[in-house]
Amino acid sequence: MIPVADAAWVEQRIQEIKLGAAQFTTNAFLTPAKLGAWIGSAELFGLPLSGCVFLLRKDRDFHHLYYFAASPTDLLHSLPVLDRDVPGTVVCDVVGKRADVDAVSPLLGNGGFRKLASLYRMVKIMSGPGEPDAADSGVVPAENADAQEVVHLLNTAFDPYVEQIPHPAEIAAAIGNRNILIVKRGGEVAGLLHFELAGLTATVRYWFVGPAYRGQGIASSLMRRFLAQCGKAKRVVLWVRAANDNAIARYRHFGFVSEDLADEVLIRQGSRK
Ligand SMILES: CC(C)(COP(=O)(O)OP(=O)(O)OC[C@H]1O[C@@H](n2cnc3c(N)ncnc32)[C@H](O)[C@@H]1OP(=O)(O)O)[C@@H](O)C(=O)NCCC(=O)NCCS
Repeated sequence: MIPVADAAWVEQRIQEIKLGAAQFTTNAFLTPAKLGAWIGSAELFGLPLSGCVFLLRKDRDFHHLYYFAASPTDLLHSLPVLDRDVPGTVVCDVVGKRADVDAVSPLLGNGGFRKLASLYRMVKIMSGPGEPDAADSGVVPAENADAQEVVHLLNTAFDPYVEQIPHPAEIAAAIGNRNILIVKRGGEVAGLLHFELAGLTATVRYWFVGPAYRGQGIASSLMRRFLAQCGKAKRVVLWVRAANDNAIARYRHFGFVSEDLADEVLIRQGSRK
């Protein structure tokens, strides 16, 4: 594994793999901004092989795996090197249309990976300004002073292997961009909605209400305020665990529908070396 210090190195390796590849396959949909941020914080490593390049992103005490392979067979043949050269726990999100995900996921089993969770994407097409919420709903953008509590809530409510929980620096940046809405009760953060806006697409990253505050309208106020302020977004997307019936029913209530896009989260538990 070599540290990646340059986005051009990544782009060049990907182009080499793509050249003449009839069945190119990848689980990485990287924007230049995201790639730049990972390189800037020295968390990205590369493993270039023949017919396949692996990128590994350090997160807490494990790595996320991204592959770019000329074909599923090339991916399969490269897995022993991954097994040999990358110790510890590795998590791989196989993302794409359901049929493609179902074809690739089993191959990872040959590298010692097992299924951890299934997610799918939901979308809401915006047909105008969202429903306005009540002015006294108590929804406000999170401030710097709320950052620690937001980090704590996300870390206790979500699984870092499956839900890619942001680091404190990312939370600070999201607060700076007013991308985290909160509701406070008795001085503590009772609920939050963390979103992103990129071009015409808005993404709900996390929607959470503390167990003691559920069923009281806080979740709806957060969602309605978010939808009302989505501005020019033409669609809102989110990933949800296929087993999270509670959230799925509520997303449907707000007009979200399922898409044919799946994310199969696989894990290879450490320690190998
Ligand atoms: C998802 C979550 C934020 C919802 O909060 P909540 O307080 O339980 O939500 P509510 O009960 O207030 O329901 C919100 C809305 O959905 C509606 N709703 C509730 N149950 C429903 C059901 N079974 N079917 C359809 N609509 C439903 C409610 O009526 C309400 O809408 P309204 O204000 O128009 O009446 C909360 O359960 C949570 O934090 N869960 C854990 C984290 C999580 O799974 N987050 C989502 C994935 S990121």
